[in-house]
Amino acid sequence: MKLEIKNKNQIDEAIADRICNLIQSKPNCVLGLATGSSPIGVYKLLASKNISFKDVTTFNLDEYYPIDINNKNSYHYFMNEHLFSKIDINKSNIHFPSLDNNYDQMIDKAGGIDFQILGIGSNGHIAFNEPGTEFNSLTHIVNLASSTIKDNSRFFNSIDEVPTKAITMGLASIMKAKEIVIIVTGSNKANALKELMSGNISKDFPASILNNHSNVTVYADKEAAKLC
Ligand code: GLP
Repeated sequence: MKLEIKNKNQIDEAIADRICNLIQSKPNCVLGLATGSSPIGVYKLLASKNISFKDVTTFNLDEYYPIDINNKNSYHYFMNEHLFSKIDINKSNIHFPSLDNNYDQMIDKAGGIDFQILGIGSNGHIAFNEPGTEFNSLTHIVNLASSTIKDNSRFFNSIDEVPTKAITMGLASIMKAKEIVIIVTGSNKANALKELMSGNISKDFPASILNNHSNVTVYADKEAAKLC
């Protein structure tokens, strides 16, 4: 894995540029998209660029389960708010995992994910693959870890409103992406970044599987990198 240490604006610009270059060279590329605070700056930049997404296909990593997609805390709502409503993407090219679709097969049929954006949970989760998830997992329903429920409660009125389950792409689904970037910023992610870069690969730290992928760039700021 390649580690790039930059400030958050530079990280957003570097990733947005990579995505724009990809769309220019392959207008019908397939993007894997993440939610959370980490990718918001990238989406803002993408929306401000004069680039067409009309032939681009997207697959989001995860969604709470169950949740009304009109709920302000759903990832459907988040993506519409931060990106989809601001670009010319064809709505039928937008995909989220659900119980009604065979998500991994759909991704394969679309030709596989060319470029995957990831964030990381403080416990090392990627998408909603919590510690203990099998490395060969495909899209599945998960029980959220109590630390994740606590971390994500900042978006809800109270911790009791945070769904306890989610549907997520699995670790094997994510590893199939041709190119992966992971955004790790802020001092609350310092322990996670240290563990990720240690090279230890363990189910207890799901993101560690990325060490086995041949094209991963870790974008971190200096607060997150303070223990590396
Ligand atoms: C959620 C999402 C993850 C995301 C993580 C980190 O749990 N399911 O995909 O990476 O939060 O979020 P943030 O970027 O806000 O730190």
